Amino acid sequence: MTVDPGQVLSWGIPRMRDLPWRRERDPWAILVAEVMLQQTRVDRVIPKWAAFLEAFPTPAACADASLGDVLRLWHGLGYPRRAKHLHATAVEVTATNGGCLPDSLPELLALPGIGPYTARAVLAFAFERDVAVVDTNIARILARTAGERLTPKRAQSMADDLVAVGDGWAWNQVLMDLGAVLCRPQPLCAECPVATSCAWSVAGHPDPDPAIGSAGVSVTQARFEGSDRQRRGRVMAALNAGPRPADSFDAAIVDGLVGDGLVERDGDLVHLPR
Ligand code: ADE
Repeated sequence: MTVDPGQVLSWGIPRMRDLPWRRERDPWAILVAEVMLQQTRVDRVIPKWAAFLEAFPTPAACADASLGDVLRLWHGLGYPRRAKHLHATAVEVTATNGGCLPDSLPELLALPGIGPYTARAVLAFAFERDVAVVDTNIARILARTAGERLTPKRAQSMADDLVAVGDGWAWNQVLMDLGAVLCRPQPLCAECPVATSCAWSVAGHPDPDPAIGSAGVSVTQARFEGSDRQRRGRVMAALNAGPRPADSFDAAIVDGLVGDGLVERDGDLVHLPR
């Protein structure tokens, strides 16, 4: 089934969500937003993104800070490996690229923690290139319009074929909004501008939903209560306030954090990296 890009853009441009990073084109600001948005909801990201960029307005400012300082600002967003990767990227581009993020896919992909989604998001949203980003919302739209589960290659190539030439920035933002607002896990096809060209919708929503298990569509997160992620978060929260005796925490959790380079030992104490 073919999707008409004009129809999607005329649905989406007047309704585009006014999100602060959409007013930005600075590659570092876009990278920080995209990394935060990967595992954290928009409403929680908004204040953290502003605070992060106030403290670290450039990669050089971030590279100048210790990883501990970056982690303290990250606190509350979870998944702190993301902060470690951002810091490492800042250090690397400051040392090798004059403090600028590169503007090509292979160079972006070579940076710590930058995968196919993030690299393309920087190209599309900062450099306004006509590349296709495939986040979980867009991946759901692709699978449903195709009417089948997609491999990662197929999802990316379908997305690449759809990008509205000359309008890549708006196209990707509008498609994200379409996925967030209408093509939700429980879809609202009655209002959807592509319902008539969506194989799954036209077929009357047969089970199973092709988005389930399709490439790039996120699966329900494991329970947080009682998880290692929660235990790790508690240690990070305590260390935010300063060093603590290692034996005040579960040893295996501390070992994991030390192994990930998020926590350091100093005799009997553990602390955030300095
Ligand atoms: N999630 C990831 N990137 C986004 C963006 N640019 N706008 C809204 N939600 C997003």
